[in-house]
Amino acid sequence: MIELRGVGKVHPGGVTALDGVDLTVADGEIHGIVGRSGAGKSTLIRCLTGLDPATSGTVRIDGVDISSASGAALAKARRSIGMVFQHVNLLDSRTAEQNIAHPLEIAGVPAAERRRRVDELLGIVGLTDRRGNYPSQLSGGQKQRVGIARALAAEPRVLLCDEPTSALDSATTRQILDLVRTLRDRLGITVVIITHEMSVVREICDSVSLLDSGRVARSGTLLDVVRDESTPLAKELIALPPVALDDEATVVEAFLTGTGPDAGAVFALLGREGIAAEIAAGTIETLHGAQVGRLRFSTPAAEADRLLAVLRGAGVRAELTTAGAARRGDLADEGSDA
Ligand SMILES: Nc1ncnc2c1ncn2[C@@H]1O[C@H](COP(=O)(O)OP(=O)(O)O)[C@@H](O)[C@H]1O
Ligand SMILES: [Mg+2]
Repeated sequence: MIELRGVGKVHPGGVTALDGVDLTVADGEIHGIVGRSGAGKSTLIRCLTGLDPATSGTVRIDGVDISSASGAALAKARRSIGMVFQHVNLLDSRTAEQNIAHPLEIAGVPAAERRRRVDELLGIVGLTDRRGNYPSQLSGGQKQRVGIARALAAEPRVLLCDEPTSALDSATTRQILDLVRTLRDRLGITVVIITHEMSVVREICDSVSLLDSGRVARSGTLLDVVRDESTPLAKELIALPPVALDDEATVVEAFLTGTGPDAGAVFALLGREGIAAEIAAGTIETLHGAQVGRLRFSTPAAEADRLLAVLRGAGVRAELTTAGAARRGDLADEGSDA
């Protein structure tokens, strides 16, 4: 378990990068951390490793206070943490298997044990047939697999990933995310993943935190966060594509939370009620088995009240907004009592 309490970090020079961060990540959980550039994400991950300690508060990993440990206790705690970065930094003069063996050599693991462990790690990341290849002979995704295997060499309990897929194409990203999920399932490790890609959060995270100016602006399970539909994080996780709406249009936005009717049921209902509403945009995702989404209807002004009443009557949260607000991505005040 990872527990941060009141974590602050003032960088030399006086920049406050973290300001009272509280965060708990349970064992075996995959937790995403998102936020704008400069929000403090990388600082947070460095505090988690103990490499660049917090200036206030406590960082506990499996009960060990990384922020106050030193010497052998800190070294042992650090071995329980694996790190994966956007750019893998493999040793070019070493093969895939030699790169994976490197941290084991440094730790003084005997050769026979090292070979056994490297074989096992190559199997876990699916690179057994590439063991003799140098980094220049590997694709970006394969290099990231070597990086992950290397991070796992010391059998960490926690894997910290800073933008692990940001340099990869979407198909490779999916493969790496599948691998991370498999590792969690097989090894039971806890994963913290920093990313600016909402698709990464949707795809593998159990829970997510939004960092803003060094503070946790929002934190919760993925579904809870998404269901809080008017918050900026929910809007980014379930984003609507931009559409050109004519300024006169009345716009109704409906939210699917997975607890009420699904999109098919909503459309069937509107058909039965004979409501003249056009769908201007929609996003539907299945997260942890629940269908969640946003539907944006464009409707004649005279129909808007009936559309709202029918949607709300069926248990669908719905709000009236204007074309201008819909374009800006925020919602008008009217109707927010839904
Ligand atoms: N080593 C450092 N020295 C001084 N300021 C730093 C240092 N590292 C980061 N910062 C500052 O701390 C803030 C948070 O940075 P960072 O953690 O890198 O954010 P993120 O990873 O979310 O982009 C920024 O204002 C940044 O300029
Ligand atoms: Mg960063």
